Amino acid sequence: MTAEIENNLKDYIKTLSTYTSTEEGVTRVVYSEEDEHAKHYIKQKMFDLQLEITEDEIGNIFGIWKGTNPSLKSFWTGSHIDAPTHGGKYDGVVGVISALEAIHHLKQEGMQPERDIVVVVFAAEEPTKFGIGCLGSKVLTGKVEKEELKNFRDSNGHSLDEILKKAGKKIDEIPYQKLQPERIHSFLELHIEQGPILERKNIDIGIVDVIAAPTEMNVIIYGEQRHAGSTPMDERKDPYPAAAEAALALEELTKSVSSSSVGTIGNISVTPGTSNVIPSHVEFSVDIRDTTTVKKDKIVTCLLEKIRDITSARGLTYSYTIQSNDTPSKMDEQGVEKLKNLCEKLGYKSYVMNSGAYHDAMVLASCVRANLLFVPSYKGISHAPSEHTDIIHLIKGTKVLIDYMKTECFNQA
Ligand code: GLV
Ligand code: MN
Ligand code: MN
Repeated sequence: MTAEIENNLKDYIKTLSTYTSTEEGVTRVVYSEEDEHAKHYIKQKMFDLQLEITEDEIGNIFGIWKGTNPSLKSFWTGSHIDAPTHGGKYDGVVGVISALEAIHHLKQEGMQPERDIVVVVFAAEEPTKFGIGCLGSKVLTGKVEKEELKNFRDSNGHSLDEILKKAGKKIDEIPYQKLQPERIHSFLELHIEQGPILERKNIDIGIVDVIAAPTEMNVIIYGEQRHAGSTPMDERKDPYPAAAEAALALEELTKSVSSSSVGTIGNISVTPGTSNVIPSHVEFSVDIRDTTTVKKDKIVTCLLEKIRDITSARGLTYSYTIQSNDTPSKMDEQGVEKLKNLCEKLGYKSYVMNSGAYHDAMVLASCVRANLLFVPSYKGISHAPSEHTDIIHLIKGTKVLIDYMKTECFNQA
């Protein structure tokens, strides 16, 4: 059985990695041609497994293995297949392919679940297109409503409405597809760790208890566009040094608040962006995360105060928008215990830990019992072309998922 799981997982990873818009790493932005190809491939695999396939208006895909007892709540598992710019082959993909491979394996064993098993592929987990992460799961759980979605624009100014229309989807039908928590037994997502802890500790499986959540902001500092050669230093209103000061303030604040706090400026644009012109304005993203809302809010508030002081001391102005403000999620405690026991039975070393990265499980946890499992990431690298997880770990993760499905979905009488 292990050899077959190994070959199938390798095959999935190899094929999905070809759906990319860049040669270096995997770039698969939601609603792009590559994303559509990858979705088509996954749907074909779902079809081969005789799952009932549906897709909602935001692009979430569901592959259902029907259970024998329709009165039982369904079990959900899955993740996402979109990838950030020059990302890796494993982020998100692992949760989808391990779920499909688990079903393949259980079917081969001649098993038939009592409750429905739903493999979900969430749309747009990465914030690459609209600056908001977990878009598919947020829409599904009613956290982003239609009116808000109508204001979404990508970096080329195209609205989500236009983009969905091109894909044959209707933004107006989005609210009708909300998930029904009362019909869901639980959700389990398998993901790569994306950090160094498991590898360093020589652990097979990470069992997450809390997922840190981000606040994502966009800040613009306005100065005065002038000639770079003829404007004396003390007569400038240059927004760039102010942005640099803001970056240093963010670093200092996150380090001082708590060891679980992180802050990142991942995108900055200087306008007009010419070497011999003092910029008119500088725009940058800010991503602040923590495992508690109190600490996260403290950093956000302090940073905004700092930006106010920095800009005022330099005679500049600024504006900001908060694009998302998510709440850290606790994973289901019962699920954590069950997963610990399963790992022990399988002879795998497990470790209960936080997740610094967010996942669709963070969003689902607000309304259903949700759990998140990690497999180790080589050198802790992720969101990079060198992202790698050894096949042995992928097999172990899949086996935990298989056994979890067995305990949750079969012989419920
Ligand atoms: C997810 O991709 C994250 O940025 O945590
Ligand atoms: Mn990611
Ligand atoms: Mn991911």
